[in-house]
Amino acid sequence: MLKPNDLVLLYHSENAKYLITLPESGELQTHKGVIKLNEIFQKNYGDEISTHRGEKFYILKPTIADIEMKVKRTTTIIYPKDAGVMLLKTNLFPGAKVVEVGTGSGAFTIILANFVRPSGIVYSYEVREDFLKNAQENVKRAGLENNVIFYLRDVVKEGFLEEDNSIDSVYIDLPEPWEVIKEAHRILKGGHSLISLNPNVEQIQKTFRTLELIGFTRIKVYEILEREILVRYSGTRPKEFSITHTAYLLFANKVNKR
Ligand SMILES: C[S@@+](CC[C@H](N)C(=O)[O-])C[C@H]1O[C@@H](n2cnc3c(N)ncnc32)[C@H](O)[C@@H]1O
Repeated sequence: MLKPNDLVLLYHSENAKYLITLPESGELQTHKGVIKLNEIFQKNYGDEISTHRGEKFYILKPTIADIEMKVKRTTTIIYPKDAGVMLLKTNLFPGAKVVEVGTGSGAFTIILANFVRPSGIVYSYEVREDFLKNAQENVKRAGLENNVIFYLRDVVKEGFLEEDNSIDSVYIDLPEPWEVIKEAHRILKGGHSLISLNPNVEQIQKTFRTLELIGFTRIKVYEILEREILVRYSGTRPKEFSITHTAYLLFANKVNKR
């Protein structure tokens, strides 16, 4: 049975879905009517529940993509289509110690923290105090604050705080990533992975050249394309509108300096 503090996705349709941490008591207001909490606490994930207007919602178990897409946004965020590949092609595992810059809205921080837990840590750097505060709230709402250490710091000017050769993976989502590559090289363990993502080719080219100069190998760039298919009795075909371009993903591995 569901209980207070459980995270649920109340799903009516793609246009009416609510990610909610269940409070102790009261009612949930939705655009389709009011849901009484004492009725939800008699249900399980997968059950249906009706609003006072008779509109039906399914009670779903949220995925980490549901949670990250519902963060309060102060910046652009890394989308699940890109995050999925970033997780698999970097050195990320339960117990890993990874670095992320910038924190932005904390959307990707949530994903990283979910995969390094229970004993790993995400060291997350952000230069803007207001963004950092919002990100901290988003991470706390996701229940992952114990696996993240936040720093308010300009990494371009002041560098990272981690020790040399101590970090399993570095994730860079900055407008000028080439400015932090030297520092990323310093803190990464030998042979370990770095990823940087940017929307523009010029940014990728400059980062690529810097990576070669500083000491990285296996430098590869990808763009991930995702196309949703509408399956309907009237005809199955791709959805007309979708997210087309988000970012180019640049992966590399650290080479130890001779
Ligand atoms: C695109 S956002 C990151 C979004 C984040 N990956 C997410 O999924 O929510 C880029 C962030 O980098 C931060 N930033 C820019 N320059 C920085 C610097 N020198 N040091 C630390 N953070 C920086 C910006 O303030 C912004 O919040």
